[in-house]
Amino acid sequence: MPQVTPRSQWGSRFAFMMAVTGAAVGLGNIWKFPYMVGQNGGAIFFILYLIGMAMVGIPTLMAEVLLGKLGRQNAVGTWQTLAVRYGASRYWQGIGFLGMFALVMILGFYSVVAGWSVAYVVQSGRGLFQSASIAEIQAFWDAFLRSPADLLLWHSAFMILTLSVVALGVREGIERVAKYLTPALFLMLIFLVVYNVCTVDMGESATFLLAPDWSKVNRSMVLAAIGQDLFTLAVGAGAMLVYGSYLAPKTTIGGSILVVAALDALVALLAGFAIFPIVFSHGLSPAAGPDLMFKVLPIAFSEMAGGRWIGVCFFGLLLFAAWTSSISMAEPLVAFLVERLQLRRAYAALCVGALSWSVGIIALLSFNVWVDVHIFNWGIFQLITDIPTNICLPIGAFAVAVFAGWRVKAADAQAGMGLGRVAFSLWRFLIRWVAPGAIASIFIAGLLL
Ligand code: PHE
Repeated sequence: MPQVTPRSQWGSRFAFMMAVTGAAVGLGNIWKFPYMVGQNGGAIFFILYLIGMAMVGIPTLMAEVLLGKLGRQNAVGTWQTLAVRYGASRYWQGIGFLGMFALVMILGFYSVVAGWSVAYVVQSGRGLFQSASIAEIQAFWDAFLRSPADLLLWHSAFMILTLSVVALGVREGIERVAKYLTPALFLMLIFLVVYNVCTVDMGESATFLLAPDWSKVNRSMVLAAIGQDLFTLAVGAGAMLVYGSYLAPKTTIGGSILVVAALDALVALLAGFAIFPIVFSHGLSPAAGPDLMFKVLPIAFSEMAGGRWIGVCFFGLLLFAAWTSSISMAEPLVAFLVERLQLRRAYAALCVGALSWSVGIIALLSFNVWVDVHIFNWGIFQLITDIPTNICLPIGAFAVAVFAGWRVKAADAQAGMGLGRVAFSLWRFLIRWVAPGAIASIFIAGLLL
């Protein structure tokens, strides 16, 4: 049976909300969401994403935080305890292990991409993109990706940044950083949108992001939107469960999670309004894919007045968003090592860092040395990103929904949630029927597509 050690708690509801918002708002919102919108026909994708968030993402996020709050341990310990409490099979703890496997992988590739943003903050600040030609900017990006040493340097720097915060602890590290970085991120994003409003025409972007063309809906778009909901709300890997486990017993979660989800969607929308006006006003393509931020935006920065500092702000925003999310990936792993193996926190952070750093090295080599290596049809980077996000997260989220909906006693769920009668019944309906059904269908369809 797991050892229950005296555990840290969030200092306030605000601290909890900032930490959870920081975990949710990440590369998924600022890097991935805009290029997915770009590739999936604009507003229609955004609407599907909002519907998926309301029907699947939010109920499942509430459920995951609830499980953590009821279990009050690392993910494996929580699943074990709750399985015993509610008379379920002990195999549910497998979900805790699966989540940790996903987190090691996600943290690995995340740190590589976040490393790009650290590099671009520095290069923008040094004026590298100032009056550079399009060819020069694109050549810089291509050469950067082809250099394992450069990628390794920035990946390592980011990993150190993340783990040093986690090593300091929940109150002293995570809470302190989240309380400053998350609001700072909002300010930077708002500044960038206001800058756009003042300098370029927003009309085309507003149409692109807000006026849906229903004739364009297709099945893969629906799947992509729900997948993005799970990833952006960070459900299914146990990160939110562990953040929930640091809540004071009397704190209720329903209202806070609604606010967090609204902030998360707002950031995605604002990121769209920060990026697309620049893309459109410079005649660039919104469907550029994962390269959008690094290969396309610097072209615009090179052409605009003060573009150097706008670039620093942009990539700094990406860095802050990635930082608070990667902290939430490392913490569950560290909590597991500390609570299960009684390791010292700093030492546990070092072990977690070493593991994910190694995964990151495999990821970064796939852009150069192993660029031609394919396993079946997948490139290595794609395997490292897709296995955890498209396979582990949906399985984890499905399990959370089923367990919270069908195993946890309604009275316990209601006490933890603190929602009114109608809202609670709605949550319970969504978590028992809609969320598992939707997640199972995206999962199965994803395997078949
Ligand atoms: N929500 C984060 C993002 O949008 C990613 C994440 C996934 C964070 C899983 C924690 C756990 O980028």
